Amino acid sequence: MVSPILSIQNLSKKFGAVIANEDVSIDLYQDEIHGLIGPNGAGKSTLIKQISGEIKQDSGKIVLGENEISNQPVFQRAKMGLARSFQVSSIIPSITVLENVILAIQGNLGQTFKFWKPVSKNQELINAAHGYLDQVDLKLRMFILASELSHGERRKLEISMALALEPKVFLLDEPMAGLGAAGSKVMTKQLAKLKSRAPILLIEHDMDAIFALADRISVLVYGRIIATGTVDEIRSNANVKEAYLGSEDL
Ligand SMILES: Nc1ncnc2c1ncn2[C@@H]1O[C@H](COP(=O)(O)OP(=O)(O)OP(=O)(O)O)[C@@H](O)[C@H]1O
Ligand SMILES: [Mg+2]
Repeated sequence: MVSPILSIQNLSKKFGAVIANEDVSIDLYQDEIHGLIGPNGAGKSTLIKQISGEIKQDSGKIVLGENEISNQPVFQRAKMGLARSFQVSSIIPSITVLENVILAIQGNLGQTFKFWKPVSKNQELINAAHGYLDQVDLKLRMFILASELSHGERRKLEISMALALEPKVFLLDEPMAGLGAAGSKVMTKQLAKLKSRAPILLIEHDMDAIFALADRISVLVYGRIIATGTVDEIRSNANVKEAYLGSEDL
């Protein structure tokens, strides 16, 4: 039996009287995109924040590889291989695209700003950054300031910075948000490539993208998982249609 890379086991979280997550379990395997869908307020972001460590679960546990990480701080979980992308703070707008990726690599290597000058002349580091930018088709834009990137390009930069962490798992909360139809298509292609690097837990409201990308999907409603299965299984699941997707043909 193959072991999951990330195992979320019976997680529960309340905010006062609001049950954000109740007894949520998901296993994420190598080479998998696991889609997490559900209506607004279903508890999707709360789940990702518990995995990354920003929010402490009330009960349940989270296991990454062989290690339980439920009580580790955010930075430790990141160091152990969790890449949570699309956090607003990750890009520094006043430096170039290339410099942003170099900083992400340095962060991963545990180096600090004081090494910035010599390291900026370090060809090995620069070559590695080129490689991460190439993977998201952003190499041609590497010398411009990050502040000059379009919305879609910023998302690409965030992915290349996540790649620079060489993570074991990607946690992505609505990567298509605000991208428009064309931008979503480009991002869909990027994410399809990304999953060969590390499995992805993908929250997304864009159903076309989720159905195109996900190997399996879990449906969260009022904090509880009501179904987990392949795209076909979820599309034809009567409970899912009634509770979330509506009665229209999907
Ligand atoms: N820090 C918090 N304090 C209090 N309540 C919160 C907090 N974070 C989330 N909630 C509540 O928990 C529930 C789940 O919220 P969450 O943001 O996880 O939903 P979501 O599925 O990500 O929704 P959306 O699709 O709109 O992003 C909601 O009722 C929300 O109001
Ligand atoms: Mg959310």
